[in-house]
Amino acid sequence: MQSFMHTPLTLQSKLPSVGTTIFTVMSALAAEYKAINLGQGFPDFPMSGELTDLVSKAMRDGFNQYVHGNGYLPLREAIAGKVQYLYGTELSADSQITITPGGTYALFTAFATLLQPGDEVIVFEPAYDCYIPQIELMGAKAVTINLVFPDYRINWEAVKEAIHERTRAIVINTPHNPTGAVWSAADMKQLEDIVQNTQIAIISDEVYEHLIFDGLPHESILKYPALRERAFACFSFGKVYHCTGWKMGYCIAPADLMSEFRKIHQFNVFTCDTPKQVALAEFLKDRQQYTGLGAFLQQKRDYFQQLMAQTRFRPLPSHGSYFQLYAYEAISGEPEKDFAVRVTKEAGVATIPVSAFYRQPVDNGVLRFCFAKKEETLEAAVERLKGM
Ligand SMILES: Cc1ncc(COP(=O)(O)O)c(C=O)c1O
Repeated sequence: MQSFMHTPLTLQSKLPSVGTTIFTVMSALAAEYKAINLGQGFPDFPMSGELTDLVSKAMRDGFNQYVHGNGYLPLREAIAGKVQYLYGTELSADSQITITPGGTYALFTAFATLLQPGDEVIVFEPAYDCYIPQIELMGAKAVTINLVFPDYRINWEAVKEAIHERTRAIVINTPHNPTGAVWSAADMKQLEDIVQNTQIAIISDEVYEHLIFDGLPHESILKYPALRERAFACFSFGKVYHCTGWKMGYCIAPADLMSEFRKIHQFNVFTCDTPKQVALAEFLKDRQQYTGLGAFLQQKRDYFQQLMAQTRFRPLPSHGSYFQLYAYEAISGEPEKDFAVRVTKEAGVATIPVSAFYRQPVDNGVLRFCFAKKEETLEAAVERLKGM
């Protein structure tokens, strides 16, 4: 018998600076201490039974094989109709919309389509955690700009200073994870002025498009002709229909950009879950399902705030998303991560320290709470937090 030398396989990490994230740490800790998890951003209430029935029906009706790689055409047409209704923008379902397995995948493919090694991308921090690793996987560099604490607005002067010939894209996210800040029309105008006559693209993360409160309008990039002609806009059905585990979303871009996006998409996932696309095409016809979402979540935000008034945590404004930040200077001067760990262990409530959304060491003494939970979950969590 031939014997082989044992040669362990080695590889060079594509993401050497990514270790165990705070999200993994907090989830493990939450499980260990049986904590109520207000850390992770997902609803604990059920999704629509009508929509799950539509998926079962689609399966029974035989929609179980590959659909077109760009997505089930009636779904793309329903999205085009929705965009026309909401933002007054006409889109081609044929050439400008692609169905993707979630918003994160849409973002990844947009970066892959756009970026060459050495390109620079402006990212506002705190930032949803996938942007920077995705940019770096493409051999490009993320240039971070801090949002201005405590209202997390954009420092437009800093943006102007950060731009130079290698700048290839700016990532925007409104309503914003983790802060709940939302962009105004004036912000969009600033962005328009900055990118005009440049080769800078916009990656617009709009997964919380309907989760917006206090009567504020969602400033979609799709409303702005001069911006949408250079943008990949990324959306998630998971956030809209309380089914984050479905991982269904879509990307919208001008036809020439989308044609390049599709070249990458077709050799990656190629096509997405058929029965869910068939079901969503039907469900999208019911506008109330998404137009009523802001009011539904605003009620949760308000209820959570009302309960939290019994604690020593201090709310920062949240105008959208699933999240509200709370400052804890009245309780402790500890760094965010240490304090979040202690709250999990001592009070039995898991949260996310906002410092986890920065690459730079920024610590403002604030934690992120997810209020997209049943009332009894919020009540039980606050009961525990009263002791802090
Ligand atoms: C800002 C932001 N973008 C994108 C996503 C990802 O959406 P999906 O679950 O559809 O990939 C999330 C999910 O938490 C998010 O918070």
